[in-house]
Amino acid sequence: MAEIAKIPSFDLTRNYVRVKEEVNVAVRRVLDTQHFILGPEVEALERELASYLEVKNTIGCASGTDSLILAMMTLNLEPGDEVITTPFTFFATASCITRNGGTPVFADVDPFTYNIKSEEVLSKLTPRTRAVLPVHLFGQMCPLEEIKDELKSRGVVLIEDCAQSIGAHRMIEGRVARSGSVGDMGCFSFFPTKNLGCYGDGGLVSVACDEDLASRIKRLRVHGAGDTYFHEEVGINSRLDALQAAILRVRLRHLEGWNEERRIVAERYAELFAENDLLESVTLPAEAKGGFHVFHQYVVRAKRRDELQKFLAARGVTTRVYYPLPLHLQHCFSYLGYKKGDFPVAEMLADEVLALPMFPELLPEEQQCVVSEIADFYRGA
Ligand SMILES: Cc1ncc(COP(=O)(O)O)c(C=O)c1O
Repeated sequence: MAEIAKIPSFDLTRNYVRVKEEVNVAVRRVLDTQHFILGPEVEALERELASYLEVKNTIGCASGTDSLILAMMTLNLEPGDEVITTPFTFFATASCITRNGGTPVFADVDPFTYNIKSEEVLSKLTPRTRAVLPVHLFGQMCPLEEIKDELKSRGVVLIEDCAQSIGAHRMIEGRVARSGSVGDMGCFSFFPTKNLGCYGDGGLVSVACDEDLASRIKRLRVHGAGDTYFHEEVGINSRLDALQAAILRVRLRHLEGWNEERRIVAERYAELFAENDLLESVTLPAEAKGGFHVFHQYVVRAKRRDELQKFLAARGVTTRVYYPLPLHLQHCFSYLGYKKGDFPVAEMLADEVLALPMFPELLPEEQQCVVSEIADFYRGA
């Protein structure tokens, strides 16, 4: 029997060896100072990321989930206040709304980019809408220019969930706009598998231009204290630590290169699927016009998805399903009163999507193997 290939959906060890020496230097620098929480290393990262994202301020915190919670806390939501978001995303996008006392209002997504649809967002606006929280899913930005001005005119806050999209951008009004710089706030995750991951948990809020808002988030992450032990409001404990910041500063220097490598991997998949005549069985992810996709994930829509996933697993190819149950159908949100059929595109995606192995170091021969196994499946081999 032929040897079974082992192709992981991601492999952080291959990435680590590329930066090991630089990371060691950075970690030792922090250890020498014995300054572990916030401090100069975190401040340096915040400055570097503000410049990279082209925003006024960034505020490091303990995770992507916390970045969403902190952004949501600034709204002072009251019962009945609504926040419009996508049902096809990671759980934290909606839980940050309910955790802060608000009501998530879902709007359906596009079947090709998987992102929330602008017209659906606009159709859900009510006098109770306090914010819109689009997710730039799998590494591609939503067309925020289609909703931005309307939201502004109504005083509705725009918060971008950028957990999967650091480095993605879009042409807006003739200029390149990075994810996290278009809305009032952007929320980032540095979970290890993210395009810019740290070696533990980490997150960050970007604030496009409002200095007071940035100062408030800075306070909220340290129990609402302006000066230590003097609390202006009740915040949370959500600090980025200096070791993670030092590691992130190293990795930020490589981010653009790694994102380019992810794009090459995506291009190669597209060629291989076409060469293998698979485009009837598998729908490839679309890059929207004017957008720059950074392929946090390479997610296809596949006929007989569950069978295909099992078949690939048996042949050593790991794939993942992001996400198998849309948020409007999650048990914990049943009190919101949604039912099956409310968001047909999100529900169809939950049945069809499959994330193929995707990371900068994925080898062409591994991709060839993934696609030829998929071809075998559809040919009934
Ligand atoms: C879209 C989205 N939002 C928020 C988060 C939460 O980030 P974290 O895992 O760092 O808390 C994630 C993480 O997977 C995510 O994918």
